Amino acid sequence: MKRELEKVRDDALAAIDDAADEKALDEIRIKFLGRKGALTTLLRGTRQIAPEERPAFGKRANEVKREIGAAIDDKVVRLAEKGDETGERLDVTLPGLKSRRGTLHPITGVMNEMIDVFAGMGYKVAVGPEIELDDYNFTRLNFPIDHPARDMQDTFFVSKDKLLRTHTSPVQIRTMETQKPPFRVISPGKVYRHDRDTSHSPMFFQLEGFVVDKKIGMGDLKGSLTAFAQKIFSADTPVRFRSSFFPFTEPSAEVDIGCIFCKGEGCRMCKQSGWIEILGSGMIHPKVLRNVGIDPNEWIGFAFGMGVERIAILKHGIEPISTFYENDLRFLRQF
Ligand code: PHE
Repeated sequence: MKRELEKVRDDALAAIDDAADEKALDEIRIKFLGRKGALTTLLRGTRQIAPEERPAFGKRANEVKREIGAAIDDKVVRLAEKGDETGERLDVTLPGLKSRRGTLHPITGVMNEMIDVFAGMGYKVAVGPEIELDDYNFTRLNFPIDHPARDMQDTFFVSKDKLLRTHTSPVQIRTMETQKPPFRVISPGKVYRHDRDTSHSPMFFQLEGFVVDKKIGMGDLKGSLTAFAQKIFSADTPVRFRSSFFPFTEPSAEVDIGCIFCKGEGCRMCKQSGWIEILGSGMIHPKVLRNVGIDPNEWIGFAFGMGVERIAILKHGIEPISTFYENDLRFLRQF
């Protein structure tokens, strides 16, 4: 009888060890501890044991019963843990995890819209490096050697002849130098300036554009940029060209739109002028064309460049500019 008891114990523990799931453990519990189970049957047979040995046998039998019970409970927990690890245990009654869909960053969204407008006019996209040669950023764009923009105050220099580009205009040089005219190119990208206030950030995005062809003029520049502004804002947005200066364009013009906040009445956003500047432009300077080996007697070009944040600020009425870079999801999810 004693030996049988130990055998029941060993069989039960081995079976528990082998059990692969909770169902198997339930069967083991019934087989060994149930009313007709092996241990119960054994205990019923104590009459066959000598009376003086009965208490010891009974004690041992109870120990075995507890041991088997504990081993089963233990295994249930271990199976559950393993299930969690492998993801096999699935409680289909739990509420599901909602995966929220991402949205494009408002700058990316506005940039894409701007690119779409120009793509519709036949422009192709080109890109250039953010760490740029001084030569491409300034010299070949006809900046004189002592131009204030070259000052350490405005430009982040990486070394004596390399810098973080201050505008996307060097892409004009890179493209015209390696490809043959005619050109109709836009170039989106990051630019860097030593500047920071409510409407300026040391890093911001620009969209550059330029066209080089045979029979084009200031009228094409005006027509293209007016069409752009009225596509991005609204068809009745007033657009005006104001003469300006850039070393790499001649003549140069800044483009203003009628203030979209006050409709020209005068407000804080347009500094009471009724107009808001959105971009710089002009006819490509003959010296710039010559710098890339294009004959200015044969070809003529116009170019423009604008800040994407500024367009986004105007479209969405957002201020300060730093709002775009804080990655606050409450802000970003509105777009
Ligand atoms: N690169 C000028 C700027 O950053 C914008 C510009 C581009 C002006 C092309 C004229 C022509 O302000």
